Amino acid sequence: MPAPDKEGKQFYIDQPQESQGFFLKGSNSLDWGMKNRLSRIFNPVSGRTVMLAIDHGYFQGPTTGLERIDLNILPIAPYADTLMLTRGILRSLVPASYTRAIVLRASGGPSILKELSNEQLAMDMEDAVRLNAAALAVQVFIGGEHETQSVHNMTRLVDMGNRFGIPILAVTAVGKDMARDARYFRLACRICAELGAHYVKTYYIPEGFETVTASCPVPIVMAGGKKIPEQDALTMAYNAVQEGASGVDMGRNIFQSESPVAMIQAVGAVVHENLEPAKAYEMYLDLKNK
Ligand code: R5P
Repeated sequence: MPAPDKEGKQFYIDQPQESQGFFLKGSNSLDWGMKNRLSRIFNPVSGRTVMLAIDHGYFQGPTTGLERIDLNILPIAPYADTLMLTRGILRSLVPASYTRAIVLRASGGPSILKELSNEQLAMDMEDAVRLNAAALAVQVFIGGEHETQSVHNMTRLVDMGNRFGIPILAVTAVGKDMARDARYFRLACRICAELGAHYVKTYYIPEGFETVTASCPVPIVMAGGKKIPEQDALTMAYNAVQEGASGVDMGRNIFQSESPVAMIQAVGAVVHENLEPAKAYEMYLDLKNK
């Protein structure tokens, strides 16, 4: 038996206990577990994240740069705040000693040979918990052929996520023939947030991106999209965070770069330290030439 406690004196009666708000936009009413997971994805100091997206294989197989995840991706993964991938790649190739946040792709079905919007949920919450996921990602095809089905996938996942305290990332997927403008992205992002997504991934547009972030009540992360020159990708990431994005979720513009290790560090400086694009590109070149 331990000795009985002596009466303590440190009650600080003149210091009321502080109620702290949560650093992420629109997330203050979430439960502790959900907030804790979001704090693993988003850096609480900068309020932003660098997510490295390597989930492309779920519909297009061994994408250029992702042929050998063990050789191409594991060396750069420690520089990401968050790794976004499928459970198959996580279990087969990522060491369990990897401690960065994991966001798992939770929708799928059609391959690039079929209609991509015809997705269904592709994993359940129990497996997400087993894999210690920080969040789950689901594709939402606003304006797509299977729009309602994809929205329903998201709302079901949000219900399950709320039950288990796992945030849901809604990924706005744009059909090839749809206009990629502010009006479309305002519509798509707002629908995802209204129906419960905890954060949203969407594309940067040069005109009106700030209206997309302003009208979305939860954090937005910028999608990378197809490979463009490094300086342009760094400029796009810079503009996105200056115009209200809470970070980036980039894949090909990092792992298809001439130097992925240099690129991810330069993106990190843009996102977390507001490094301007010209300086970030210099940083990229310096690291690349080392
Ligand atoms: C996009 O819809 C999927 O989530 C992708 O597999 C991936 O996240 C896209 O990343 P990026 O366009 O930056 O290569």
